[in-house]
Amino acid sequence: MEDVLVVCYSFTGISRLAAQLLCSHHGWPMGEVADADTRDTLRCVLDSLLRRRPRILYRGPDPGAFRTVVLVAPIWMYRLARPMRSFVAQRREQLRRVAVIATMNSGGATNAFAEVAHLLGQPPVANAAFLQRELEDGTGTGRLLAFGDALQSSSTVVPPARAAERTAPAA
Ligand SMILES: Cc1cc2nc3c(=O)[nH]c(=O)nc-3n(C[C@H](O)[C@H](O)[C@H](O)COP(=O)(O)O)c2cc1C
Repeated sequence: MEDVLVVCYSFTGISRLAAQLLCSHHGWPMGEVADADTRDTLRCVLDSLLRRRPRILYRGPDPGAFRTVVLVAPIWMYRLARPMRSFVAQRREQLRRVAVIATMNSGGATNAFAEVAHLLGQPPVANAAFLQRELEDGTGTGRLLAFGDALQSSSTVVPPARAAERTAPAA
């Protein structure tokens, strides 16, 4: 069985950037969740508010062939972006050991971690949140790569590493 697969969903490119950094530094393969239907910002908001499960496409290696899958996705409306939620719901049987990275402007990551835990029936082995700004200006790169290092060398739970987060509405 292979070790780590990174799977990202990205609407504007920030989560993809984080996923690519992790993959290029660690030599990990990457898979990508994409929208099956046209998406704009209004649709992101409506999918989130109405708790829709949008149709997705997945391009990448079989997650079931990996010991650990790192999910990288943005926060929308204080929740996990709905396309990544669709992916977790569809593939939960194949996801053995999951870590979650959320990208965001200010808050909502704790809700996203709880959503993944609820869908999987167990908490992620590790989670981390990064502000869009940290990924754009590079100030988050060291922490991101350290998260990957800890994940690679651990077989159990990695301590949480989160960006400072404003108080968010309850999940
Ligand atoms: C529709 C929508 C809703 C968002 N809601 C939140 C939010 O609740 N909290 C937050 O911190 N950022 C929010 N953001 C900002 C994104 O989470 C942030 O820009 C993220 O890094 C974008 O990742 P991406 O480029 O991979 O799509 C929202 C962005 C969009 C488009």
